[in-house]
Amino acid sequence: MQIQVTNTPDELAILAADRIEELVRHKPDCVLGFATGSTPLATYQELIRRYRAGRIDFSKVRTFNLDEYWGLPPSHPQSYHSFMQEHVFQHLNIPADQVHLPQGHGIDEETACRDYEQEIRRAGGIDLQVLGIGTNGHIGFNEPAKELRLDTHLVTLTQATVLANSRFFNSPSDVPRRAITMGVRTILSSRRLLLLATGPQKAAILQQLFQRGISTELPASLLHLHPDATILADQDAAALLA
Ligand code: F6R
Repeated sequence: MQIQVTNTPDELAILAADRIEELVRHKPDCVLGFATGSTPLATYQELIRRYRAGRIDFSKVRTFNLDEYWGLPPSHPQSYHSFMQEHVFQHLNIPADQVHLPQGHGIDEETACRDYEQEIRRAGGIDLQVLGIGTNGHIGFNEPAKELRLDTHLVTLTQATVLANSRFFNSPSDVPRRAITMGVRTILSSRRLLLLATGPQKAAILQQLFQRGISTELPASLLHLHPDATILADQDAAALLA
């Protein structure tokens, strides 16, 4: 696992966008894995800027998101479908039928999970997966636990995650308690992983990521097992690293 530290979050967004642009140029029909949350927003804005400048053509790109709340219809303003539409997809030329998020509504659990894994396989797997990291070390919604699930599955969110995500809702009680997420094997099967971490609130977990070794209690530590995983961290997030 490599780590690259940038001076600012803006610089990080440029580096992350560089990697994505390079991939799309090299393989126009590549499969990109996207994350929601605050951290990748600047990277998405940079990609949108480059698309508007005519530098990147996304028309053949296919995308898969990490996760979605369980029980929220796609049209719900806080669903990850809406988030991605608002912040990413409405600004890029990716045809709607090439965009995939887990289905968290109007479908039974088993079918939703199985279909998502099949769709990823049918697309030939993910070329580059963008990840954020929870302050508890989660990736996607794979929360710290004695055992982690391999494939796309339904998960009950920890209180810490519900609280962290309540900033997007009117109150913590509005945050769905469950989500559908890629499993750790789904994530680690991506050919390349790019984990983005910015801000002082990520410093302690990044320190643990490098000090604690591999543990299911720190799901992001599984990235140590991946042959092509890079962490991009800004100075604040990297502040406690030796
Ligand atoms: C989002 C996701 C989460 C976030 C993580 C960090 O799709 O799967 O793992 O990446 O919670 O969120 P932010 O970037 O808001 O700190």
